[in-house]
Amino acid sequence: MWLIDSSIGRKLVMSITGFFLILFLIFHMSMNVVAIFSGEAYNTICEFLGANWYALVGTAVLAGGFILHIIFATILTLRNKKARPIAYSFQDNQEKVEWSSRNMFVLGVVVLLGLIMHLSHFWAKMQLPEILGCEAEYAGQFADGAALIRATFANPIICLLYILWFVAIWFHLTHGFWSAFQSAGLDNKTWFPRLKCCANIVSTLIFLGFAAVVVAGYIQSL
Ligand code: HEM
Repeated sequence: MWLIDSSIGRKLVMSITGFFLILFLIFHMSMNVVAIFSGEAYNTICEFLGANWYALVGTAVLAGGFILHIIFATILTLRNKKARPIAYSFQDNQEKVEWSSRNMFVLGVVVLLGLIMHLSHFWAKMQLPEILGCEAEYAGQFADGAALIRATFANPIICLLYILWFVAIWFHLTHGFWSAFQSAGLDNKTWFPRLKCCANIVSTLIFLGFAAVVVAGYIQSL
């Protein structure tokens, strides 16, 4: 199949799924920032995005996007390694390519590990029990998403792990954002520096938004 067999096809899938995941991150960050200001408003949003059919289809599409992104990243990395088994030997060449661009796969693995930790803290306690029909067990404790944020980030070690996870996401996004546009065909001398600047701005806003939720959760838990 063209999308899998050709290098352009594989990059296109990475780019489309990458755009989609960036949009999710912007939405998810904005939604969580609400918890800083009003626990009640945050819980209303969580309830709206609970286990109704639209939310479940949305979660399934999101999971599909993540899985495709990971599978294609693995195929791309393995084929690149096969095509160039010995890394560039010239120091100069390595320095010209940014650190995040050279380490996208490793950064992706760290992002994935962080995501597994995060889903076990939140999704597994909120949407999963609802899907399984055992929400009653959790209702008192975890139907309150804002309280779950405070309970989770009451632990400074967990706060630190989340901040480290956001740093990995920042690096992954600073490369991923402009690379997604480049793979989609927007690649010229005028737009390249602009895209890089936008990539830094968007990644930093996402980082600051999520980090603020962690810090606010910790402070509110005291
Ligand atoms: C301070 C940071 C964050 C907080 C407080 C937070 C909070 C939450 C909550 C409460 C849920 C469960 C929603 C529900 O079940 O109704 C959730 C789910 C989820 N989160 Fe996060 N999140 C944060 C950061 C992130 C980041 C950085 C990512 C991605 C890299 C992410 C990806 C997901 C995914 C994929 C789900 C499952 C799908 C969904 O329920 O929307 N989250 N998060």
